[in-house]
Amino acid sequence: MERIPNPLDEHLTRVLYSKEVIHQRVLELGAQITEDYMDRDLVLVGILRGAAVFLCDLSRAIAVPHSWDMCGASSYHGGTATSGHVQITKDVEVDLRNKHVIVVEDIYDSGRTLRAICDLLRVHQPASIEVCALLYKEKVQRASEVAIKYVGFEIPDEFVVGYGLDYNEYYRNLECIGILDPKIYS
Ligand code: IMP
Ligand code: MG
Repeated sequence: MERIPNPLDEHLTRVLYSKEVIHQRVLELGAQITEDYMDRDLVLVGILRGAAVFLCDLSRAIAVPHSWDMCGASSYHGGTATSGHVQITKDVEVDLRNKHVIVVEDIYDSGRTLRAICDLLRVHQPASIEVCALLYKEKVQRASEVAIKYVGFEIPDEFVVGYGLDYNEYYRNLECIGILDPKIYS
């Protein structure tokens, strides 16, 4: 059966990555992680809510036994610009002590969310923490620099939606990733 056309697709000025291109890149990331974590006790920690779609696909592209959990952080409170204050809304429940953690994030933007989450996870005493971000926004300056070991795509500094990324909680269900028409939010 064909997918029902999504009228929200019309709100994009440009599709950056199609469903097929995203799928291919996620498989590559999964293969790379599989190779790197062959003999390690791996836990993926996704950041709610934007990374949920990516986490589910990435987990299934990884061929070493692993568990996963989600933690929550919020900084936008609606709109297209971060408030600058990151609120932790949910801690992890899986035991991370002596485990090798990969934080799974939708997008590396100002870096504040990843900084706050990595600080939170360190309290759980994992053996290591790395970050996998599907999108890496190119920026002149960031509030917090965080080392990102695995990157899906580098993108221009524009507001994007789809494949989990939202504007005011909508557009997460678009299968592609695209630039949201500024008419929608201005
Ligand atoms: P940071 O703390 O500024 O790095 O922002 C990270 C969070 O902001 C991400 O987890 C996303 O949920 C959200 N975000 C940043 N840029 C975008 C975007 O272009 N579209 C949608 N959400 C974004
Ligand atoms: Mg968001």
